[in-house]
Amino acid sequence: MTSALQRVVVRAPGKINLSLMVGAVDSRGYHSLATVFQAVDLYETVTATRADDLSLQVTSDVPGELPLDGSNLVLRAAELLREECDLRLGAALHVHKQVPIAGGMGGGSADAAATLVALDRLWATGLDAERLRELGARLGADVPFAMLGHTALGSGNGTDLTTVLTHGEWTWLLAVPGGHLSTPEVFRRFDEISHASGRPLAEHPVLDERQLQALSGGNIELLADTLHNDLQIAAFELHPGLEPVVEAAELLGAQAALVSGSGPTVAVLVEDEAQARSIAAGLMRDSLVQTCLVARGSAPGASVLEES
Ligand code: C5P
Repeated sequence: MTSALQRVVVRAPGKINLSLMVGAVDSRGYHSLATVFQAVDLYETVTATRADDLSLQVTSDVPGELPLDGSNLVLRAAELLREECDLRLGAALHVHKQVPIAGGMGGGSADAAATLVALDRLWATGLDAERLRELGARLGADVPFAMLGHTALGSGNGTDLTTVLTHGEWTWLLAVPGGHLSTPEVFRRFDEISHASGRPLAEHPVLDERQLQALSGGNIELLADTLHNDLQIAAFELHPGLEPVVEAAELLGAQAALVSGSGPTVAVLVEDEAQARSIAAGLMRDSLVQTCLVARGSAPGASVLEES
């Protein structure tokens, strides 16, 4: 099992959750989800070059720190593939980041997805897409979607995916307020809030069907109406800077705004890039956010850009 390739470049997209309905916890402590993912055109680009050992370098367009040790998802993905295929090969891995770090947009998951696809090529492991997605799911619930891309329904833990038909493109302003939210902590707070409310969590949470109509019909008003994140209230409680961003974006004329995944990035649905820029200027002027990015969805999943 060896290829003649010396270098493979793969990019994988960040995502937002247009719906995130959270249900009961399973035996592994994972929540059942009903979610709609949309990949956006902010990419993590992984370059894998043949080498004796595994090593990692990171460059970034976005602020923030991430671990470079064995807890990094790039290195964990490489180790997992080595173990699964019983290989002793190495690679010099370089990641260039465009997705906000620890922002609820699946940047780490995109890193893992791009790494699995790149090393599958470089090491000629010959695994098919489904097997790679299965390995990805072991690294994180959002990894299989970063491989698939576009817009998809996610059920189970978010790893059972079905592509959704969409019409046209959607423009998003991604407002990054700074600060950090831990995904497990946000889920924990969500559980506490649900428990205190006395309402049991659904075994199989359900989506608002109107969101699928909005996507297939290209209806921005209906999409705005159906954007929903069950984790938002927990994220608001854990990060006091967040609710003001959602409120201000809507006051500044956005169709709608919601916390992306477990946050703290806020995804703002806008008509076009000009509106995105004007809302971004308002949020920056009021010092509500640290960084604003404009992105379009849907975007393709992990894809090979170059190999030589
Ligand atoms: O899979 P990922 O590493 O993204 O998940 C991080 C944490 O988020 C998990 O350890 C778990 O606490 C929580 N989570 C969950 N249910 C899911 C996905 C994630 O409780 N479906």
